[in-house]
Amino acid sequence: METPLTNNISPGKEPADLRQYENAGGYAAVRKALRLAPAEVMAIVEESNLRGRGGAGFPTAKKWSFVPMGDDAPRPKYLICNADEMEPGTFKDRLLLEGDPHQLIEGMIISAYTVQADVAYIFLRWAYKLAAERLESALAEAYRQGYLGKNILGSEYSLELHLHVSAGRYICGEETALLNALEGKRANPRAKPPYPQVSGLWGKPTVVNSVETLCNVPHIVNRGAAWFKNLSRSADGGTKLYGVSGRVKKPGLWELPMGTPIREILEEHAGGMQGGYRFRGLLPGGASTNFVVADQLDVAMDFDSMQVAGSRLGTGAMIILDDKTCPVGMLLNLEHFFAQESCGWCTPCWSGLSWIEQILQGLEEGSGQSSDLERLQSHARLLGPGHTFCALAPGAAEPLQSGLKHFGDDFHRHIREKRCPWR
Ligand code: NAI
Repeated sequence: METPLTNNISPGKEPADLRQYENAGGYAAVRKALRLAPAEVMAIVEESNLRGRGGAGFPTAKKWSFVPMGDDAPRPKYLICNADEMEPGTFKDRLLLEGDPHQLIEGMIISAYTVQADVAYIFLRWAYKLAAERLESALAEAYRQGYLGKNILGSEYSLELHLHVSAGRYICGEETALLNALEGKRANPRAKPPYPQVSGLWGKPTVVNSVETLCNVPHIVNRGAAWFKNLSRSADGGTKLYGVSGRVKKPGLWELPMGTPIREILEEHAGGMQGGYRFRGLLPGGASTNFVVADQLDVAMDFDSMQVAGSRLGTGAMIILDDKTCPVGMLLNLEHFFAQESCGWCTPCWSGLSWIEQILQGLEEGSGQSSDLERLQSHARLLGPGHTFCALAPGAAEPLQSGLKHFGDDFHRHIREKRCPWR
């Protein structure tokens, strides 16, 4: 099984420099794409069934297809790589950024060419300092070699690519808040529609793709849509970076066929639970997803199967809950994060999340009341989709709502015993 994204990448290892990257076949896909019309590149990516790897799984070519093309399209057009990875438990993009910066740059050049973008940005998480250093150096090499700048490789296509370091808030990764941040404004989300493809950065057509999505593009162009589709075990094309954190024997990150069952990831790759710890549940795609429990472990980790199972693939980074960790305490930790990271723009989010945090705190401290459970349920409902500007609060409601469902007895014990039974 070939794993296109993580070939040659291992954490801590120096990334390939330009020469080494080229020797391994790097930038061949840029040469190939520039010989094709943008619509032909788009057709290859469409055929590959690549879906966005940021968490929502929107079909990549479909997203690109909304960008106005032709001589009368508004200019400049932008491509932005969302590298503001801050979802709890999620560290997959970090590995790609630090491990193979040229792979991302190559993916961005091809994607920008496909939508005929003039300017591109990598919007990078503030804390990813090593990634920033390595991207800067790879960008300088790519400019020197003529892969970026005016008339790339002698073609008529030109692209400027800049690195922008984020201010360090979770909300900056929400694509419309990211646009505001890049424009130098407060990072509040914008209403959608209009989607950024039509009116994005400074009101111009803008595509925002995630790191993992863009890193797939050179391989699809090089080896074809059929090859990419065949890497997968499900209808979505390709491979997926799956992460596992918590009390497993070998926490880590693996590139595996899209649609690999949860059990296989946990047992074969993460080595199963550590001795003395029992599995109770997991959040499959970062913190803003619904809990999956023991009788759901044979579900395939792909976008559609996870939705049928009542959760979401999200970022594919699983956080494991074991029997020696208090589920209420775990939720308090997560809801504290979400409350702290709310941008304060809409009331259900800033007010609701801090209420939730307070109630969970009370339960943990032994002052919980039985009415708290109903209040938590009702707050979680009020934070659901359609009540807020962006996905932050609905995302925060998912672990809470599903935690109440699966670990209700543990909440009741906190109230009955007037303390956290795990302390
Ligand atoms: P969304 O479903 O609103 O949009 C996903 C993408 O598809 C966006 O780029 C959007 O512009 C595009 N899109 C959706 N509907 C469209 C339409 N009708 N026309 C044109 N384009 C359309 O989801 P959102 O709010 O952008 O992202 C939520 C996801 O982000 C969650 O699944 C969550 O798991 C993930 N997430 C990831 C984080 C990370 O660190 N990687 C952090 C926080 C959340």
